Amino acid sequence: MSDPQRLALVTGASRGIGAAVAVRLARAGVRVVGTATTSAGAESISELAGAQGLALEGQVLDVRDAEAVDRLCAAIEERYGAVGILVNNAAITRDGLLLRMDPDDWDEVLETDLTGVYRLTRRCLRGMVRARWGRIITLTSVVAFSGNPGQANYAAAKAGLVGFTRALALEVGSRQITVNAVAPGFIETDMTRRLDERQREALLGRVPLGRFGRAEEVAALVAYLAGDEAGYVTAQTFHINGGMFPS
Ligand SMILES: NC(=O)c1ccc[n+]([C@@H]2O[C@H](COP(=O)([O-])OP(=O)(O)OC[C@H]3O[C@@H](n4cnc5c(N)ncnc54)[C@H](OP(=O)(O)O)[C@@H]3O)[C@@H](O)[C@H]2O)c1
Repeated sequence: MSDPQRLALVTGASRGIGAAVAVRLARAGVRVVGTATTSAGAESISELAGAQGLALEGQVLDVRDAEAVDRLCAAIEERYGAVGILVNNAAITRDGLLLRMDPDDWDEVLETDLTGVYRLTRRCLRGMVRARWGRIITLTSVVAFSGNPGQANYAAAKAGLVGFTRALALEVGSRQITVNAVAPGFIETDMTRRLDERQREALLGRVPLGRFGRAEEVAALVAYLAGDEAGYVTAQTFHINGGMFPS
């Protein structure tokens, strides 16, 4: 059985920030299970790990599926022991101005980005409570604080995660489980590659450092929070956004 401090579950590890976090933790000697929504995505995580000799494996998971969450966590526990580090990274956007926002686009974002985090966290918490050690790190967003036209659903879900983080941190602090959130600004990933040139220029104008962030830069912050050295850091949201907010 693995030491819980050495076993991480990273949701949405097939690309972007989640992939960078999974690789970073695995390079630090943590065994990592990274998830994707498809078997092709899960295989690509395992292949990447194999090529780099990392203890990182891909598994299929849809965070909207409560039974699948339970099945995956049970399988990990049986094979390796309790997950000690949970990185809630998986998320989607379904943008649109509220007047025109389809109810499905509201529901899907809340279900994936907010309720998915509730599901994973609640399931992994049992093992952390037993181990009296845990790290829960959740990716929120600058738009939870700044707002963004066309993203009322995403901003609501991400702002919800900030409150979730604080409340849970107060509940489980006595068990030496830390709960923190990381709020990136604009990071070069598939989520931001969808923007057209005009949108990119407008956004860059709001970033004092004058560039988008890299997934690896976010991963470094997550890795710090996941490690032993961050044992006295809890109930916080960390902004990593090139200085754009709060300013
Ligand atoms: N990129 C940014 O600028 C930025 C800014 C602020 C906050 N963030 C936050 O940082 C996190 C990562 O963002 P990113 O840009 O790296 O995202 P991304 O490149 O769009 O990747 C999203 C990941 O989530 C997975 N996913 C999507 N729906 C899922 C579901 N229902 N169940 C399980 N996994 C699911 C995807 O899996 P598949 O590959 O299988 O689809 C993928 O691995 C998110 O929480 C995002 O809100 C990002």
